[in-house]
Amino acid sequence: MRGGDAGHHVKANAGLGQGCVQHLSRRPDEGAACQILLIARLFTDARSIHRFDGRAVDDATLRALYDLLKLGPTGFNAQPGRYLFIRSAEAKAHLADGMSSANRDKTLAAPLNVVVAYDTRFHEHLPTQFPAYDAKAFFDQSPDWIEPTARTNATLQAAYLIFAARALGLDVGPMSGFKADRVDAAFFPDGRYRSLLLANIGYGVRDGLPPRGPRLAFDDAVSVL
Ligand SMILES: Cc1cc2nc3c(=O)[nH]c(=O)nc-3n(C[C@H](O)[C@H](O)[C@H](O)COP(=O)(O)O)c2cc1C
Repeated sequence: MRGGDAGHHVKANAGLGQGCVQHLSRRPDEGAACQILLIARLFTDARSIHRFDGRAVDDATLRALYDLLKLGPTGFNAQPGRYLFIRSAEAKAHLADGMSSANRDKTLAAPLNVVVAYDTRFHEHLPTQFPAYDAKAFFDQSPDWIEPTARTNATLQAAYLIFAARALGLDVGPMSGFKADRVDAAFFPDGRYRSLLLANIGYGVRDGLPPRGPRLAFDDAVSVL
């Protein structure tokens, strides 16, 4: 299995849905094949994609996406990430207004965009989401912890979104190249949510995709003590 060749297209582009789940439970040998397919779809064949075919991403897929990403772990189970999905031309125009010029056209052309933001009052949900002890009181008494906790965990949730989307057969193009103050003014005017990351989502087109950039070698990135 090789990953990252320009123009290479994963044949099982419909995602790893029910069929794979059934194979995993019934036929261990086919289950192994499914695991290889899953690794390819999530990692070795997956790319950051900003060009998409004409297929829309329907509401059922958005719900399936959230139902997967929400399971990723967060500190205190705090789940500070908030997800604004954008499809309409009007909302796209507001979003494009806040994009860097390099990202504007592809943002407008994508069938779906997502703004991943964090909730600056995420701790208000802690009594129901983390009833083990009174974590809300900790944040009420330590307000300096709110922002870094929200950013760290919502950033993790943005990564869960990327990988959940890949598992469902979608492609994602993440982007930091936008003006957060403009995006926040357009979509979160009361100041409660703050945008962290944007992404284009759809069914990717790989023609013309440049080869994957190199990755640091194990010895350059990893220490083992
Ligand atoms: C946090 C983050 C910010 C990024 N910002 C941009 C961006 O503003 N514009 C863009 O075209 N790509 C952006 N990318 C895409 C990266 O360049 C891409 O993920 C990286 O080169 C790896 O490419 P690959 O997934 O195809 O191997 C961003 C990716 C991440 C994760």
